[in-house]
Amino acid sequence: MQTVESLLDLRNAVHTWKQAGESVALVPTLGNLHEAHLQLVDFARTRADRVVVSIFVNPLQFGLGEDFNSYPRTETEDARLLATRETDLLYLPGVAVMYPRDAQSMTRVVVPGLSDRYCGESRPGHFEGVATVVCKLLNQVQPDIGVFGKKDYQQLLVIERLVADLDMPVKIAGVETVREHDGLAMSSRNRYLDDQQRSQATGLSKMLGTLAQSCKKGHQDYRALESEGIKILEQAGFRPDYVVICRKNDLEPATGNDHDLVILGAGYLGKARLIDNISVTVGIPA
Ligand code: PAF
Repeated sequence: MQTVESLLDLRNAVHTWKQAGESVALVPTLGNLHEAHLQLVDFARTRADRVVVSIFVNPLQFGLGEDFNSYPRTETEDARLLATRETDLLYLPGVAVMYPRDAQSMTRVVVPGLSDRYCGESRPGHFEGVATVVCKLLNQVQPDIGVFGKKDYQQLLVIERLVADLDMPVKIAGVETVREHDGLAMSSRNRYLDDQQRSQATGLSKMLGTLAQSCKKGHQDYRALESEGIKILEQAGFRPDYVVICRKNDLEPATGNDHDLVILGAGYLGKARLIDNISVTVGIPA
């Protein structure tokens, strides 16, 4: 596995592959890799000849008081893990490569509407930071395919929308959430949980499963189900952020006319903010 830090070295490597007619996949990450990231790499490998993984802890997507400074930076271990999964290139740009002028005065990418609700409401500026850095990474690497996890479902839709709106010649793929044995979605932020919080954390996926069952049984008062979800999270020890039942394609609040739904949930356990989601199809006879 090759590791590069400069845009020039990145472009030279990708150019050589493209000259040889090879396709390229990009897996953007914040690092501190775990099995879910590695499964994104595995997926990418099935879709392209070459796999690039980027690690960049993007200051633009962390709000004031969030965990930018304490976000675990484990690049040596990350590189070791990536090498075990046949990554071709690890791209490790520093802040000066990504934001050569000061980040605050650089061009930003905004995906209005979709970015403003749910996680976007709780974390103002977060999706602008994500959209900006993902747009830059896609322009830098120019992959045929960009691979993202479905755990960050709202992020995935923001990225699909920006790629469509800006006519970027790249396919975006979403990969199923990878879970621990008890259903907890894998996340770097799970490392913030102490033992008690770790056992409480399963409450999030269980709550989503309960609500999905109710939807499948024909309950259509989605706003009431959302309130029930908040109560379940509180009982499990969470400080709930939001529980919403939405249309899967645009995250508008679901109504009885919709069939393809996604239930999104977020909540805090101590200093960890956990998110998860579940897709559910309703009202279509099997
Ligand atoms: O999901 C993440 O890890 C980040 O938001 C991403 C897509 C790498 C952008 O920094």
